[in-house]
Amino acid sequence: MPAPVSFADYRTEARRRLPRFLFDYVDGGSYDEATLGRNVTDLAAIALRQRVLRDVSPVDPATELFGRTLAMPVALAPVGLAGMYHRRGETQAVRAAEAAGIPFCLSTVSVCALDEVAKAASQPFWFQLYMIRDRGFIRDLLQKAAALGCGALVFTVDMPVPGARYRDYRSGLAGASGFAGDLRRFAQAAMHPRWAWDVGLRGRPHHLGNVAPVLEGSTGLEDFFAWMRDNFDASATWADIDFIRQSWSGPLIIKGILDPDDARAAADAGADGIVVSNHGGRQLDGALSAARALPAVVDAIAGRLRVLADGGVRSGLDVVRMLALGADGVLIGRPWVYALASGGERGVARMLQVMEAEIRVAMALTGCTRIADIDQDILADRGEARVADRR
Ligand code: FNR
Repeated sequence: MPAPVSFADYRTEARRRLPRFLFDYVDGGSYDEATLGRNVTDLAAIALRQRVLRDVSPVDPATELFGRTLAMPVALAPVGLAGMYHRRGETQAVRAAEAAGIPFCLSTVSVCALDEVAKAASQPFWFQLYMIRDRGFIRDLLQKAAALGCGALVFTVDMPVPGARYRDYRSGLAGASGFAGDLRRFAQAAMHPRWAWDVGLRGRPHHLGNVAPVLEGSTGLEDFFAWMRDNFDASATWADIDFIRQSWSGPLIIKGILDPDDARAAADAGADGIVVSNHGGRQLDGALSAARALPAVVDAIAGRLRVLADGGVRSGLDVVRMLALGADGVLIGRPWVYALASGGERGVARMLQVMEAEIRVAMALTGCTRIADIDQDILADRGEARVADRR
């Protein structure tokens, strides 16, 4: 079988390699998955102007974000449980991101803890925070991230409560606790012996490295969901940004903004950046796609902070589309997870090489030689940049 090259190829390969409960956990969204689907289709529908004879011999996709020069305007989004998709997956992904010259963002709910990832890394990576009730614990976590030299803090605000994801119930990841749940997942793992050996056995421990101290020895997946429900702090408000600032002085990026009013509030609260995101269609089904929400958010903050976006980016061409809609950079979630599941560190590195090449080609064919050249002028329909207002 030929090596995977496109997102669809990696997804097919990941489906083949992962037990069903894990593939569905990554692949799925909330409720009817309408927002998940629209993240992809709205972005793919953005048409670009093809330009010619503009000397695009040197194309440079490098950019600067939060004090660091990146080889391309892309970062690996925080994804929970990544250590379950390949052995010690977060350590493999951070190395692949470094090789590609872009940041890796470690999730609060990763398998590998901050220290383990820091050992694997040679450059600063980003850390993502969920607001947890135990503020003393958060303070310790932030201090640890700062001491390990994390380059930015990504504070995720679109999950005060977890969205309902039907697929997780159908697959046996959620709702099937105790022996029955273990048996179902064990049966699915047994049908994927390569995964069972590489991750299931050799990849242990499977506990959530960063939150293990507050999980008090519970390690099962059903404990994880119960812990999220009981410990994520739905009472958090904008005032908590002050609390975070007491323990974190580096760049602060607020992730999960879709609304222009919230974007202004993030700027007022002193954030350095935001991520326009609906959590990959995993939270409020029916929320706007990232591509539709982005232009109005960019208008609202009028250059006061850096704007990243995620949701539905499946290629380098999609990266250029998001930039044309006003983003300074993008995060990718499922693309790196499927590449990780398919081929570990090498899989992610290869996927990122292809993505960079695609960005270069899309830039050349739209007549852009630098990232700064990409703006709404390359949209075939300039109205797309105000698409959220029109519909
Ligand atoms: C996520 N996402 C996420 N976000 C976050 O801030 N912390 C987290 O722990 C997770 N966990 C997580 C797990 C899985 C399996 C997925 C697919 C996503 C959301 C993620 O950071 C990002 O916003 C989306 O994945 C972007 O959409 P695409 O690129 O997957 O379409």
